[in-house]
Order: sequence, then structure tokens, then C-alpha cells
Amino acid sequence: MLTELRVELAERSYPIRFGTQLAPTVAGQVEAWQAQGRKVAVVADVTVARLHAPWLEAAFPGCPVLTVPAGEGSKTVAGLGQVLEFLATQRLDRGAVVAAVGGGVIGDLVGFAAAAFLRGVDFVQVPTTLLAMVDSSVGGKTGINLAAGKNLAGAFHQPRAVYIDTGFLATLPQREFAAGAAEIVKYGLLGDAALYAELAARPLVEAGDVRTAAIVRQCCALKAAVVQEDERETKATGGRALLNLGHTFGHAVEQVTGYKRYLHGEAVGLGLAAAARLSERLGLLAAGEAERIETVVADHHLPVRLEPSLELPALMAAMQRDKKVRAGRLRFVVLAKIGDAQTKDDVEPCAVEAVWREVGAA
Ligand code: NAD
Ligand code: GLY
Repeated sequence: MLTELRVELAERSYPIRFGTQLAPTVAGQVEAWQAQGRKVAVVADVTVARLHAPWLEAAFPGCPVLTVPAGEGSKTVAGLGQVLEFLATQRLDRGAVVAAVGGGVIGDLVGFAAAAFLRGVDFVQVPTTLLAMVDSSVGGKTGINLAAGKNLAGAFHQPRAVYIDTGFLATLPQREFAAGAAEIVKYGLLGDAALYAELAARPLVEAGDVRTAAIVRQCCALKAAVVQEDERETKATGGRALLNLGHTFGHAVEQVTGYKRYLHGEAVGLGLAAAARLSERLGLLAAGEAERIETVVADHHLPVRLEPSLELPALMAAMQRDKKVRAGRLRFVVLAKIGDAQTKDDVEPCAVEAVWREVGAA
């Protein structure tokens, strides 16, 4: 069954379509664009292109396809150049539509290329990982990593549509599924206590779980609501920044380990544990709550401790390079209670250091 949710952003509004076997739906849209004289080009993750070649052919018949290497290593200046050169070689004009088929890496990379090519062409997201389905494909944040840090170059560029075919999850490795679940636990913690309670009672650990499609949709609804309120993360407090729960810690872990040891979602899992501990340390969460949150995170097959350990000074230095730093002060997202997050700018470094030690920093 095909269902739909809309992200309402005035002239940048778009549908998120949910279902399985969505290739014919996508093909119908592609055909409509082509009938208007609009060219459609596809950029896909090489692994997805190999595993889902029939889906791609059915959804984008006859369209040019660029495949890029799987993984974070493609979200670079070089990767961006490759996509831009492909779009130019295909002689796409301003009416063109680019489809990003893959996980968050492909969505971020191709979305940024679409924002930059000819100063902006339309693009659609076809997320194929759990993480991309519940988070990165919605909301219009696009970008690449620089040597100095993650997501340091990018643009807000909303897709024209998002097609979420949960059938893709059947081939997703367990470890990648768990990485996506980290963002789902995040949504529960920051804005949906009932979802969190559901996950605490019965962790979501496999794509075949009957709840998967409904939970994906629930997360998209939550994200859409936040993005509608604060599209460009400009609110002085709260707003879209709340979606970064766990990320200030998580990005530091990713950076110190060179984006190699932990998947993004795994680093977020660790970050959620750390953010919960910080919230408890600041007297917001009741004693013992952080440990219970850690259990829920760990039950989703995610790390809650740095193993092996990482050096505290390196983690603190990485945090300072985070793009959320303003006038040298870090912005944290903390929990007032389960389902209720807030931003906090005045956290003392000693509290942050203590939390890092609790989660295993040396
Ligand atoms: P990813 O895109 O690297 O995909 C993970 C792995 O899964 C890759 O090896 C890929 O080849 C493989 N894969 C993808 N779909 C598959 C499928 N259906 N079957 C089998 N294998 C499949 O990683 P990700 O976890 O999807 O995304 C992480 C990225 O998303 C990070 O760069 C992060 O910064 C970004 N992100 C962006 C936002 C945003 O709002 N823009 C939000 C969260 C995360
Ligand atoms: N994933 C954070 C955001 O979209 O704002």
C-alpha cells in the first residue's frame, strides 16, 4: 500500500511516499518529467546498484546512471567533483532532475551537487538504508566532509520528493540496520516518549519486524514537523538543533577515529549514551535514567562505551571544531525528560570531560 506525508515548506513543499515495490510509482513520475522535456539522471551507491539493478531499471528506464563507491569516503570534494562532472557530461539543463539512490552518503552528496549544479537543479531522494529513510533523506540538509571535519561544506536544498521503499531494507546488513535504529531511538528520546517506550519494551533490530514501516513513517512525521518549524536551524533555542541529540559527542568520536571505526549511527548511539549522562549530571534527568537509556541503546546492538578507549584531549579538541560551536562555546542537546529535549549553551567543560570519562575516554 502506498501512503504519503507532506513536508510543508511553502514553495519548497514536497511529498514523502512510503510503500514497497515503489519502482513503478517512481517510473510514472520520471515519465511525467520526461514528457515535459526534463532530463532525469541517477546517482547510485555501487552496492545498491548491484543489489537492486532490476529496481533501478524499472524506476528509471533508459536514464543515465553514475555509480559511486559505497561509504563515507565518497562524501568528499573529489566525490562532489565526480558527480558534477557527470551531470555536465550528460548535458543536463536547469530543468533537469537528479535522483539520489542510496544511503545518507549518496543523499548528502547528490543533494549538494544538485544544489550547486547550474546554481541549483531539482533532485529526489530514494533512501535505501534505515538511517536515510528515517533521517537524512528528509529536511534538505546536504553536504560533504572536509579534512577539518564532518559536513563542513553543504547547502540547504530540499528534495522535490522522497520515495521510501522499505523493501530495500531486506538486503541491508545488520550492522547498518542498527546504525539506523540509533536515529530512531534519538527521535523517541527527543520528541516521542511513546515511541521510546515501544523501543524500550521491544527493540527494533531487524527489517522484517512488522513495526518497521510504521516506525519509519512515524520518524519522518516527527522530522517533518521539526523542519517545518525551523527549516534552516536558526531558532535561538530548540528547533531543528534538537535533531542533533547525541551528535556533538558522536561527531567527535567519528572525527577522532577518522570516520573508520564507527558507522555514523554507531557514533550517534554512543553520543546518545553520553548526552543522557550529561543530562543526568546537570540534574535534568533523574538518577539512574541515563543507565536505563544506555540499556535501550545497547539493546539495539549499538555501542555505549569507547572500546578501545580514545584520548580525552583529542575528543575535546574535535568537539571544538564542531560546526555548532559559536564564539568558542559548544551547544549541547540535553534531555529534560524522555521525549523532551532542549538546547544548552552554558555547559562547563569539566562536566563534558567527566561524561567522556564515564563513557570510556582515557
Ligand atoms: P551510507 O550511505 O554509507 O550507507 C551505508 C552502507 O550501506 C553503504 O556501504 C551502502 O553501500 C550500504 N547500503 C545502502 N543501502 C543498502 C541496501 N539496501 N542493501 C545493502 N546495502 C546497502 O550510510 P548511511 O548510514 O545511510 O548514512 C550516513 C550518512 O548520512 C553520514 O554521512 C551522515 O553524516 C549523513 N546524515 C545526514 C543527515 C542529513 O540530515 N542530511 C542526517 C543523518 C545522517
Ligand atoms: N539530522 C539533523 C537534521 O536534519 O537537522
